[in-house]
Amino acid sequence: MSDEASNKLNRRKFLGAATLAGASALAAGQSFAQASKDAPKPDPLITEVQDWQRYLGDGVDKHPYGMPSKFEKNVIRRDVAWLTASAESSVNFTPLHALDGIITPSGLCFERHHSGIAEIDPAQHRLMINGLVDKPLVFTMDDIKRMPRVNKIYFLECAANSGMEWRGAQLNGCQFTHGMVHNLMYTGVMLKTVLDEAGIKPNAKWLMLEGGDAAAMNRSVPIEKALDDCMIAFAMNGEALRPEQGYPLRAVIPGWEGNLWVKWIRRIEVGDQPWQTREETSKYTDLLADGRSRKHTFIMDAKSVVTNPSPQAPLKFKGRNVLSGLAWSGRGSIKRVDVSIDGGRNWQSARIDGPVIDKSLTRFYVDFDWNGQEMMVQSRAMDSTGYVQPSKEELRKVRGVNSIYHNNGIQTWLVRANGETENVEIG
Ligand code: MTE
Ligand code: CO
Repeated sequence: MSDEASNKLNRRKFLGAATLAGASALAAGQSFAQASKDAPKPDPLITEVQDWQRYLGDGVDKHPYGMPSKFEKNVIRRDVAWLTASAESSVNFTPLHALDGIITPSGLCFERHHSGIAEIDPAQHRLMINGLVDKPLVFTMDDIKRMPRVNKIYFLECAANSGMEWRGAQLNGCQFTHGMVHNLMYTGVMLKTVLDEAGIKPNAKWLMLEGGDAAAMNRSVPIEKALDDCMIAFAMNGEALRPEQGYPLRAVIPGWEGNLWVKWIRRIEVGDQPWQTREETSKYTDLLADGRSRKHTFIMDAKSVVTNPSPQAPLKFKGRNVLSGLAWSGRGSIKRVDVSIDGGRNWQSARIDGPVIDKSLTRFYVDFDWNGQEMMVQSRAMDSTGYVQPSKEELRKVRGVNSIYHNNGIQTWLVRANGETENVEIG
């Protein structure tokens, strides 16, 4: 039987099964420690002294910069070789299935470069502001670090995130379907502070942000957004930006598509209209079903994904389990996340835990009891504007399947009776 046929069959069998409401009622007295039931008795891990208890460990001089435990070596960014022709103009993906909380560890942030990582000595970095300003200026990094600074947590999502899924389920893992997103605490200066230094002319309408990499990537940002909440950041998660993320300076354009967050930013030109962008970057256009395209789709609409279970993180045990996921919206904060295990017929509100911040990833959980039934797991985010994440079917009705960008449709994972989980589509 083809995979597709077996999915259909499994789905038919499944639809008569229990809902999350039923599945989530924990059996009274059931233990969390069921895995230890299978351990040998007596268990040498309890009765015997282990090597790590017997010998001295590394001293404080061994790891001047800390790294994760060697047992976490599989938690890494991964790329999909066939997606792009070269690694320099390519993307890798955040391992969402292996992370928790809301902050992405600095070394695991997905990377998207058009011409590789620029290696810039901060002493030689300059930020120039020119165009419709009273005083064209050039800032050094030292200048920028003497200006009043702010700390903000924001998600960055590439407009192409989930782009390979427009025509159907394709990549098997939330790292690949949803991993072009990261969420960091940025430290930097408000763009407004920098612009006020130069004094913008009354007819200023657009900024052109230019990167210092070999792509000299440039994007245009409307002045209202620039003066509202944009930043020029030099730190992420409390330390200098990583080279991959634009060291020593990048633009932060909260809630808007990642492409606008120019890395290694070296110039801001103030103008009265958007710039003609280079061919490579002007591809960030949403093609519609009728062949027309949407010109500027800046805002990232509300979206969510169940990160556990997912294809790279199957269910291992019956009984008590934690379903977990992430939700975010470029228009504000996450108000509610609903979860379904029967492909969207029945929904239950998930428990949101951790900070709920505007334009930041938000963590949700459902603590449930799994009896080994097949499940079609979905999550659906609602944001502070009342916008509800659409199904893929609803999205395709409006947008067709010609687009690569801005796919915020509801993801479905099929969890099989043995716990293995796969990327599927309903309908
Ligand atoms: N800035 C420069 N200078 N060069 C680039 O190639 N890629 C853009 C944006 N800024 C890019 C850039 C794109 S498409 C995205 S999605 C984000 O950076 C990715 O940011 P990250 O690499 O920190 O994840
Ligand atoms: Co991008």
